[in-house]
Amino acid sequence: MSDIESRKQDHVDLSLDPSSQYDTRPFEAYRLPYKALPEINLEDVSTETELFGKKLSQPLIISSMTGGTKYAGTINKNLAIAAEAAHVALGVGSQRIALEKREAIESFELVRKHAPTAVLFANMGAIQLNNGRDVADYEAVVRMIAADALYLHINPLQEAIQPGGDTNYAGLLKKIEQLVAKLSVPVFVKEVGHGIDEATAKALFDIGVAGVDVAGLGGTSYAWIEARRAGEDYYADWFRNVGVPTDEAVVGAARHKGERIVVASGGIRNPLAAVKARALGADYVASARSFLKRAVVSADETIAAIEMARRGIQITLFSCGVSNWQEAANIQLIHTAETNYSDNPRI
Ligand SMILES: Cc1cc2nc3c(=O)[nH]c(=O)nc-3n(C[C@H](O)[C@H](O)[C@H](O)COP(=O)(O)O)c2cc1C
Repeated sequence: MSDIESRKQDHVDLSLDPSSQYDTRPFEAYRLPYKALPEINLEDVSTETELFGKKLSQPLIISSMTGGTKYAGTINKNLAIAAEAAHVALGVGSQRIALEKREAIESFELVRKHAPTAVLFANMGAIQLNNGRDVADYEAVVRMIAADALYLHINPLQEAIQPGGDTNYAGLLKKIEQLVAKLSVPVFVKEVGHGIDEATAKALFDIGVAGVDVAGLGGTSYAWIEARRAGEDYYADWFRNVGVPTDEAVVGAARHKGERIVVASGGIRNPLAAVKARALGADYVASARSFLKRAVVSADETIAAIEMARRGIQITLFSCGVSNWQEAANIQLIHTAETNYSDNPRI
C-alpha cells in the first residue's frame, strides 16, 4: 500500500474510534420550542427541499469522506446506492489520489454509476492550488463523477499536524477566487471538522463561492486523527478541540450569506441538531461519521439510517408546529446556556 492509500485506510479506521469525536455536541446551548398543540398533521409535514434544481427528500448531504482504495470503493458504492435510493446529496473524498494514480479513479467513478441522478459533490483541497494544480485539474475531478458542484476543502490544522502536510496557505484566497470564476460548476468551500470562522466565511462569500460548509468543531476531530496516525499523543490532546464550534460557525456564516448557501456540519448526529442549525441560518446539514458507520456495513443499513434521519426531522418540525423545512428558518430557539452569540437577532 502506498503512503496515501494507507492514510485513507487509517482515516476510516481512526474516525470510527469514539475518541475521534469532540467532547461536546453542538447546539446543546439551545432548546427547540415545543408546541403542545401544533395544529398540523404530522403526515403533511414536509422535509423536502432542492439543491441545484434536483429534489432532495430531506436537506441532507453525506459529507465527503473517501475514495482511492478498494475498501474505499466499497464504502463509496454503499453511500452512492443509499444516496440515490433515499434522495439525498453525497460528497466523495478528496480526489487528488485519482489525479496521481489511474487505478484510484474507479473508486470514484463508480459513485456516479450507482447514483445516476443524485446531487454529487466532487472534492479536492484548495491547498493544491499552491502545489501547481490549476483549473483543468479541478475540472478533471468534477468530470470524473459528473459532479453537480465541487467541495473545495480547507484544512490548515490537519495539514499542520500531518507529517509532510501541505502548509503553505499564503495567497490562497486569490487563487480560490480565480478558480471560482472559471470552474464550470458551483464551488462550495468546506473545512474538515475544525470550523470556518466568520471573517473567513465572509471573505469566501465576497469572492463568489456558492456555499460554505462550516464543518465545525462538534464531531470528528481531524487534528486528533492525524496526531494519532503520527503517534503524536501530545498533539492529539492539545489540538483535538481547536477550532470554531459548529453552532458559532453557522451563525457567523449565515450573517454574510445573502442568497448563498450555508451547510451546517461537524457533529450533526440527530434531527434536533439539524433543525436547530436551520433556525440559526443553515440551508442544509451534512454529516460524515454517522453514515460511514453504516456504509462500512451495507447500503441497506445506510438507507435505513438516512430514512430514520428524515423521519426524525419530520417529527422535530411537527413538534415545533412547523410544516416544512423552509419555515423552520423562522423557529425561535430558546437559549438555555451562556454563549457569546448574544448579538444574533434570531436568539
Ligand atoms: C473517514 C473520513 C474521511 C474524510 N475525508 C475527507 C476528505 O477527503 N475531504 C474532505 O473535504 N473532508 C473529509 N472528511 C471530513 C468530513 O467531510 C467532515 O467535514 C468531518 O468529518 C466533520 O463531520 P462529522 O462530524 O459529521 O464527521 C473526512 C471525514 C472522515 C470521517
